Formats: sequence, structure tokens, C-alpha cells
Amino acid sequence: MARILQPRSLQVAVQALLAEDVVALPTETVYGLAARFDSPIAVESVFRTKGRPAHDPLIVHVAPTATLESLVRQGVVGVLSPRARRVTQKLMARFWPGPLTLVLPRGRRVSPNITADSDYVALRMPAHPVFQRVLRSTRVPLVAPSANRFQGISPTRAEHVHAELGDRIRFIVDGGPCKLGIESTILWIQPNTVSLLRPGALPLEALRKVAGVPIRASRVRSSIAPGRESRHYSPSKPVALAVGPRDLLIKATALSKTFRSLGVLARTQSSADRIKKSVHNVILEVASPNGDPQEVARRLYGCMRRLDNSVSDFLLMETTRSKSGLLRAVSDRLQRAAGLTS
Ligand code: TXA
Ligand code: MG
Repeated sequence: MARILQPRSLQVAVQALLAEDVVALPTETVYGLAARFDSPIAVESVFRTKGRPAHDPLIVHVAPTATLESLVRQGVVGVLSPRARRVTQKLMARFWPGPLTLVLPRGRRVSPNITADSDYVALRMPAHPVFQRVLRSTRVPLVAPSANRFQGISPTRAEHVHAELGDRIRFIVDGGPCKLGIESTILWIQPNTVSLLRPGALPLEALRKVAGVPIRASRVRSSIAPGRESRHYSPSKPVALAVGPRDLLIKATALSKTFRSLGVLARTQSSADRIKKSVHNVILEVASPNGDPQEVARRLYGCMRRLDNSVSDFLLMETTRSKSGLLRAVSDRLQRAAGLTS
């Protein structure tokens, strides 16, 4: 069984990583399953540990001291067009370290096993102090997918990682609950276009203000976004969605007649109160008492996980029509939890 390490024992984790082992580490978004990027053995064990197919590429995490120039020099990033370089530099300057993953031309030192044979590599500079200390000590970038089993719910606490992978890994570093709770936003920087591959913790509006070029947000049809399978981030129980409190009440009432116990994720307390009054065989989770988008994002996966672990046999979750700010990422994850493509 995995040992949960406190940050004061970080050197144990660093030594294990240097010795080509995989270690779960906290980031500001979700916990990641880290391994050194330059070790084929370590990269292979990341895929094996998660049960992840080789066609789903990994994000490479870099130290807070990295710059675009140093990454190019080290062979992590390849050649960029002048336009791509300008956009990348602006985004890095403003949003790194933080929840933004940039997909850039792959450098010669990045193995195609990491990128699922793509000529592009996904890079991120995490903002969590524990992950940063590890990167400073290993002095080598680390791949890190979310530390859950393939297609499962991303972990936002060390205990979640333990429940997912405790029997498969040796160490989990406990960095407390993740501040943002939802994965990074992924942007694909091509020579003449920039596209959103995954909405995430950094809202598109903020990126658009800084990028200085248009960002395409429509669904990108490309083999380079294979991780965007429609079923992802999902509980093991069947999931249906409702749009807004009224639809939630109607569907909860109907489903409660079919299922012995219904798990319901309400977005706000008032939405939950309406259900409580008229439906009895429900297990309720409230994402955020006042519907604050940041709190919804932070608590989403924890709520899903509790409902999935409860006795309920069917889950109903409340989403919104709004796609502004963080709600774009929240509704994307809810769609995927329900096996629907957004
Ligand atoms: O917030 C995050 O990004 C977290 C933390 C741990 O950093 N990581 C994370 O990794 O969410 P993962 O592996 O669960 O999701 C990464 C997504 C996948 O859907 C994958 O398809 C996409 O990034 N991706 C990775 N490399 C790519 C590449 N070279 N081109 C296009 N998409 C890529
Ligand atoms: Mg993941």
C-alpha cells in the first residue's frame, strides 16, 4: 500500500522519482501521477499504473525557472513560427506558473511515447509549491497525468489518490486539498492558429484578453486531442444531467420512482432544498451554497466521488446553460461524466 508522505519528507519522493519510480504529487488543479520525462521505463509505468492507453498523451511539467528559450535549448520544445513564439511568450509571461497547458512543437528530447506519436508536446508549469520544490530538486521535467485510473474522477485530495491507486504506487505526497479542483486549460499553439483543446481552470476570456490573436473554441477535430474522449472524468454509476433547478426537480422526481436511491448533485443550496422538500429517497450533494463558480469547480470532483461511493444506484447532476468563465470547464466535465460529448 502507498505511503502518504508529508511535504517535510519530500526528499523520499524526489529520490524515488530520480530512481525512475512514479509518485503522486499535488498541483493547484488536481493531483498528478509524476515520473521523469527522460525515462522510458518511468513513462511506461505511468501508463500502466493508470491503465491508460498509449494513444492518450501526457503533459510534461516544468520547473518555475524554465523559460521558452531554456526549453528550446534543452530540446523540450521544437521550432516555433515567429507568430507562435509571440503568442507563447505572452501567455507564459502572464499565466505561468498556473493552470494553463500549452501544446507546442515537440523537441528532440521528448519521446513520442509521451505525446502518443504527435509532433506536439503539452507543457505546463504548476503553481503548487510542493510540486515546484520537487521540480527544483529533480532538475528534470516530470510527466504527470491526473492521478486516477483511466476515465475515472480526478483526485483533489491525497486520500482520493490513495483510493484510486494506493495498491499500485509507493508514495503519495500530501499537499492538502487542491485550490482550483479542476484540470488546466489546454491551448494548442499552431503556426497560424490557436485553439482550445480542453476548457479548464483558466477561463477562456482571460486567455483571449492576453493572447493578442483569436482563440478557436469550437471542438477541434484532430488526432492530437485523443484524451478528449466523450466518456471521461466519470463515476462508475450511470449519470444523467439536468439543466438548472427546475429541470433538476422534474428529473429527480421521475427518477426517484425508478431507483431505490438516487444521488443528486445540486449546484446551489436553494436548488437542493427544492429537491429535499418533495423527493425522499435521495442522497444530496451541494456544489456551492451560493453557486459561486470557483467553489463549484473546486468541489465538483469531491462531490461526484462521494455520490459514486454512496449507496445510490443512479446519479443526477445539475449543469447550467452558461458557458462563461469557469462554468465552461464545469459543464464540460459534467457532460463527460454523463458520457455526452460537449
Ligand atoms: O491540470 C492538469 O492538467 C493535470 C495536472 C496533474 O497537471 N493534468 C492532467 O493530465 O489533467 P491528464 O493526462 O489527465 O490530461 C491531459 C490531457 C489529455 O486529455 C491529453 O489528451 C492532453 O492533455 N494532451 C497531452 N499531451 C497532448 C499533446 N501532445 N497534444 C494534445 N493533447 C495532449
Ligand atoms: Mg485526467
